[in-house]
Amino acid sequence: MSKTVYILNGPNLNLLGKRQPEIYGHDTLDDVEANCSAVANAAGFAVKVLQSNYEGQIVDWIHEAREQAAAIIINPGALTHYSIAVLDALNTFERPVIEVHISQVHKRESFRHHSYVSLRADAVMAGFGINGYTLATSHVATLI
Ligand code: DQA
Repeated sequence: MSKTVYILNGPNLNLLGKRQPEIYGHDTLDDVEANCSAVANAAGFAVKVLQSNYEGQIVDWIHEAREQAAAIIINPGALTHYSIAVLDALNTFERPVIEVHISQVHKRESFRHHSYVSLRADAVMAGFGINGYTLATSHVATLI
């Protein structure tokens, strides 16, 4: 098993830094990648940061992670709240799964309070801004 951790991002997260900055902040996915790479490299592993607006692509990357990844960190975006396909895919993955939300979803609309992905996630971060990805990467370093 290579020491690569997949950091998967769902719909609309390509607009991180531009989209509703009052909720999601001004940092971008490139910043997420730089921060997580620094933590991962210091701990002796690599991260692969991926984003798609398509559910099937996220499912395909989870399948790829089964062969390639020591852990998955995933911010599924809105797929969190309705995608049984993403949950089913994560249930085929036998190593650590960390769910990350930039915003504190439990403080927001009630439809954001339920997560299918949490039925599989080994840990959940919400409301830490993009630091949630960095903290999740540090946690993964203790697991792999
Ligand atoms: C999000 C929260 C979701 O409810 C939302 O649909 C997103 C981003 C977050 O990172 O806070 O797209 O996952």
